[in-house]
Amino acid sequence: MTKRQILVTSALPYANGAIHLGHMVEHIQTDVWVRFQKMRGHECYYVCADDTHGTPIMLAAEKQGITPEQLIERVNTEHLADFSGFHIGYDNYYSTNSPENKAFSEQVYLALKANDKIASRTIEQLYDPEKNMFLPDRFVKGECPKCGAADQYGDNCEKCGATYSPTELKNPYSAVSGAKPVLKTSEHYFFRLGECTGFLQDWTGGSSLRGDGASQVHLQAESLNKMNEWIEGGLQDWDISRDAPYFGFEIPGAPGKYFYVWLDAPIGYMASFKNLCDRTGIDFDEWFKPDSKTEMYHFIGKDILYFHALFWPAMLHFAGYRAPTGVFAHGFLTVDGHKMSKSRGTFITAKSYLDCGLNPEWMRYYIAGKLNGRIEDIDLNLGDFVARVNSDVVGKFVNIASRAAGFISKRFGGQLAANLEDETRLLGNIAGEAENIAAAFEAREYAKALREVMAIADIVNGYVDANKPWELAKQEGQDARLHEVCSVLINAFRLLTIYLKPVLPKLAEGVEAFLDVAPLQWADIDQRLLGHTIKPYQHLMQRIDPVLVEKLIEANKQSMETQAPAAAANYEPLADTIKIDDFAKLDLRVGKVLACNFVEGSDKLLQFTVDLGFEQRNIFSGIRSAYQEPEKLVGRKVIVVANLAERKMRFGVSQGMIVCASGPEDNSGLFLLDADDGAEPGMRIG
Ligand code: 2FM
Ligand code: ZN
Repeated sequence: MTKRQILVTSALPYANGAIHLGHMVEHIQTDVWVRFQKMRGHECYYVCADDTHGTPIMLAAEKQGITPEQLIERVNTEHLADFSGFHIGYDNYYSTNSPENKAFSEQVYLALKANDKIASRTIEQLYDPEKNMFLPDRFVKGECPKCGAADQYGDNCEKCGATYSPTELKNPYSAVSGAKPVLKTSEHYFFRLGECTGFLQDWTGGSSLRGDGASQVHLQAESLNKMNEWIEGGLQDWDISRDAPYFGFEIPGAPGKYFYVWLDAPIGYMASFKNLCDRTGIDFDEWFKPDSKTEMYHFIGKDILYFHALFWPAMLHFAGYRAPTGVFAHGFLTVDGHKMSKSRGTFITAKSYLDCGLNPEWMRYYIAGKLNGRIEDIDLNLGDFVARVNSDVVGKFVNIASRAAGFISKRFGGQLAANLEDETRLLGNIAGEAENIAAAFEAREYAKALREVMAIADIVNGYVDANKPWELAKQEGQDARLHEVCSVLINAFRLLTIYLKPVLPKLAEGVEAFLDVAPLQWADIDQRLLGHTIKPYQHLMQRIDPVLVEKLIEANKQSMETQAPAAAANYEPLADTIKIDDFAKLDLRVGKVLACNFVEGSDKLLQFTVDLGFEQRNIFSGIRSAYQEPEKLVGRKVIVVANLAERKMRFGVSQGMIVCASGPEDNSGLFLLDADDGAEPGMRIG
């Protein structure tokens, strides 16, 4: 087999927050792939880093009374502990606040500039006159220019879903100091992305050759569609500078101007790899030169595709480097069907999971069992988690060893039979699946790979039941048969371990120690253990006790209470008293959802078709963050403000409003209201 050279990354986590299970999905997805490639004998490196720059990190440090450097150092230690706790095997985990990253960021910028890809112009922005700083959109708050809702962010309204620029907010205030912002001009630098359109059209729809000659498309089909839409809509120049005070790298030749964090973040992939190269003697230039034969893959969430599938390839290409071989996007994680929620205890941090005594490989197995190569959200159903892991990993896989090992040690001194002639078919069949399973891992179809592995485990367990070693053990003259059956089982267990090792690396280590063999590689599938002596069996993995899962939810609820004691007891002030006539002006009706879809180009809105009995309405509602599977809303009842004036939006006309419960905090969630059985579409509420 040709040895491929593969560089792999996961998105760099921000250095101001804890690692949660959402991050873990991505890093597990990447780690499984990397471990698989390494087992196949390829030269594969996995690098990551903390994403350390930007206003939020600068302000978080200030709030804690420490320097940004102190904050990012502390968080780096915490992140590494969390990831190693889940056996994520980076070859290097670095920081974007590094000398290598500074050098590359400057060099990429200067190369783009020399290539006429940098423009500068003066823009007007809101400025906090007390803090003496320009305010990013999320740091300006005020009343929604459309619906008047209070305390909305500068980019969009969480109440009505309107999007706007921060200068349109009514009564704006700085979320940093509370001061009224003023408009101020400043010179900004732009990456001329529009100039890169031709290259990006080719790259996004294109493919590259892998080291083994196979072809690899750069983007998944869903990503390509999205990018085509964006490219067709016209690519805007990208603002890559921020004014002081800013925690980041100063732009060469532009005192007081800093690189926007999203410029130096992906360059952090290169910097982390360079740091690894310098420590280990890998030739960095071989991997990053424009015609490099090596492969580079980025695993990311679907929310940051724009950066990785447009900005990043264009930056690399026009700065004289190779572009990625593939960008692999995944969906979001929901827990029990909902967006992770702090108040429900389902915003689960990696640390709390480990602290509760849950085995990280349980989660690795469960997550891998849900992943495929497409951009689909995946749901962690906690009941299913317990059932699936207990039944598959312990019930089907580990049990094979525990059913055979005792006889081998007690009756045969730990030694396996010297030949298994009668049973070559079963083992041959298992080994015969190696390339199918490998193809599934390669295509990130882990769910499929694990289904195939468990189907094999079922066959092996069927073999146990058919041959009943516990009965053979009691029968006279059946020693040789017992020896053979148990030796077949140990060999089958070894083959299954090879298939599961990318997902369950620690368990596989335990198996290697038990079998007394060198670390298993994919090619070992063709060998058998004959006449080999194994170690006494010790239990390899416990079942999940559901009590631990309850403990986990409780721990995450409590941490929310200690972090934000105000949130639970916080209510919006009561509105002014109204007369019954005022209420009568509001015509609320029961509606039934006939259709509900995402809205192209909006990450806030859902589009509803609602049946009001006497007519159907088209309604846009800004609740996508809380309802990520719109198809599941079809058929349910909702409450509609039916006499609200129609509103023209960028996406169409909204004919009413669907009412929702919400709390005062950004993370309090949005909850649709229901009507009891018997309420029919069109009924008036009052
Ligand atoms: O979205 C995020 O969490 C970013 N910190 C990801 C950066 S990925 C890369 F570009 F650095
Ligand atoms: Zn609004």
